Amino acid sequence: MCSIIGYLGISPAAPIIVKGLKRMEYRGYDSVGVATFSEHHINVRKGVGKVLEVNKAVKLDELIGTIGIGHTRWATHGMVTDTNAHPHPSSSGEIAIVHNGIIENHEELKKELQTLGYTFKSQTDSEVIANLLQYNYDKTKEIKKSVVDTVAELKGNYAFVAVFQDGTLAAARLHEPLIIGVGREGYFISSDVLGFVEYTDEVIYPDNKEFVIIDSSGLKIFDFDANPVQHQITKVSKEFADAYKGQYAHYTLKEISEQPTTILNAGNKTKIEIDLASDLIKHARNLYITGSGTSYNAALIAKFLFSKYAKIKIDPLISSEVQFSPDIFEEKSILIAISQSGESADVLEAVNIAKKTGSKIISIVNMMTSSLVHQSSISIGLNCGPEIGVAATKSFTSQLVVLYKMVDKICDGCIELDLTKVSEAIKKILSNDSKIRDVANRLKDVSDIYVLGRGIHYPIASEGSLKLKELTYIHAEGLPGGELKHGPLALMDSNSYVLIINPNDSTYNDTLTSAREIKARGAKIIGISDKPSDVYDYWIDIPSITESLYPLIEIVPIQLLAYHAALEKDTDPDYPRNLAKSVTVK
Ligand code: BG6
Repeated sequence: MCSIIGYLGISPAAPIIVKGLKRMEYRGYDSVGVATFSEHHINVRKGVGKVLEVNKAVKLDELIGTIGIGHTRWATHGMVTDTNAHPHPSSSGEIAIVHNGIIENHEELKKELQTLGYTFKSQTDSEVIANLLQYNYDKTKEIKKSVVDTVAELKGNYAFVAVFQDGTLAAARLHEPLIIGVGREGYFISSDVLGFVEYTDEVIYPDNKEFVIIDSSGLKIFDFDANPVQHQITKVSKEFADAYKGQYAHYTLKEISEQPTTILNAGNKTKIEIDLASDLIKHARNLYITGSGTSYNAALIAKFLFSKYAKIKIDPLISSEVQFSPDIFEEKSILIAISQSGESADVLEAVNIAKKTGSKIISIVNMMTSSLVHQSSISIGLNCGPEIGVAATKSFTSQLVVLYKMVDKICDGCIELDLTKVSEAIKKILSNDSKIRDVANRLKDVSDIYVLGRGIHYPIASEGSLKLKELTYIHAEGLPGGELKHGPLALMDSNSYVLIINPNDSTYNDTLTSAREIKARGAKIIGISDKPSDVYDYWIDIPSITESLYPLIEIVPIQLLAYHAALEKDTDPDYPRNLAKSVTVK
């Protein structure tokens, strides 16, 4: 997934674009580039690396002109090189484009255009958009017509912004996010409100299969058949402007540290929706819950909560796997879709498959301006503020709180959901940071870590291992405690490190037995528990709390452990290699 942005107004475009790209860098950070229009010429500067590095090297923000486009890349087609970085000019240089998504028929289009004399410099699928626009523009000399003819030929998922040699901006979307900002000093086009929210909170959401043209006469929106379209201007909440690190060294540490507050705020702006959703679920026949990455681990926790406390069966589905079993949904089914960004392509596809059978969609989302919200019957907001760190942290615990609230509603308060206690417990864990840092120090040269949990703690073990993978690049595996002796125990020796999630609840004794079996093979044990034990080589203590609430707190020390181990290993905790905050391509 990449980030795209465009600006047309009275202010110098390049500084605005570079700032917007910096804010959206979590969407992709392989390379960055900007193109501006001035005096009938399009100037392009780009390079491999992060926004600040490339800006320092090639002075992106010093490009001249009050009209421009920009891009940060998460490579899908073609290596990470300067040539494959966006913007891509057309072979005549009269048009330049930035693109997010995948053009599935780029090879055949490229061949056709090459036979017509258009040349290509890059290995990307995106460059075909620039030359196809150029080809159609050369035929009609009309920007609107050339966009209509171009989108008629493109196949795949895309959002692109193009700048033409008369200073006009054109942008189109098909299954990829594209938002328009209407400001006092100009118009903004962006993948995400974060790209321009510091300049305006007035936005327009073009629908799928629509394109916009912005020039000195203003903004016009059309559908792909060239019919004019009107859209309301809506306001986005200014909380999204608050995406600063403050006194923290990294967004990830800031977001981990915000959890005592975000736990208390989770779902608070959509209380009615939680009640409506809980009622719907209570009477549903077929219930499914889906997500990707961390959101899927939250779905696994939901399975335990719904069956244990609400006596309701719910099936967790990995979003990217739903396409292989589309027939599970039926008319009265309900699918709960969990997604921090609300833009993960796999989640949106699972939702589309379910909707085709008439299933109802309940979504649990952080970005309430996202595509998933527009696809849902009911949307519940995490209300935890923007999450910039690519590895999800505060959004995970907020997802859990929303699920707890739904189940607690269905079972008439049987969970005793005391969030103040949870918030206080997390504060205690955060205050134990130096001890966690010491343990993290030992993981510097470790190549494999196993994370163990039983029952509802197994999904937390999965999430813990995901955090370690994402932040430290150490091979980490989440294991159900009881499965150890059926194979994974063969992996244990004196080089192994094992994290044992072992709160003092009904799983305690069995998990301690597993820890003893591992210890007997010489492995090092890191115990996360509110009860010390001589089995642990390193004990990270967590406060005792009501049995049902341990999953809400026991992930926090592992988030911190992964963060500090990342610093030990000199990786970038906010922008791990090869990842992006949410992946909008399949
Ligand atoms: C990945 C992120 O790209 O997408 C993960 O790196 C995240 O942190 C996953 O959990 C799913 O994202 P979302 O936005 O659908 O919850």
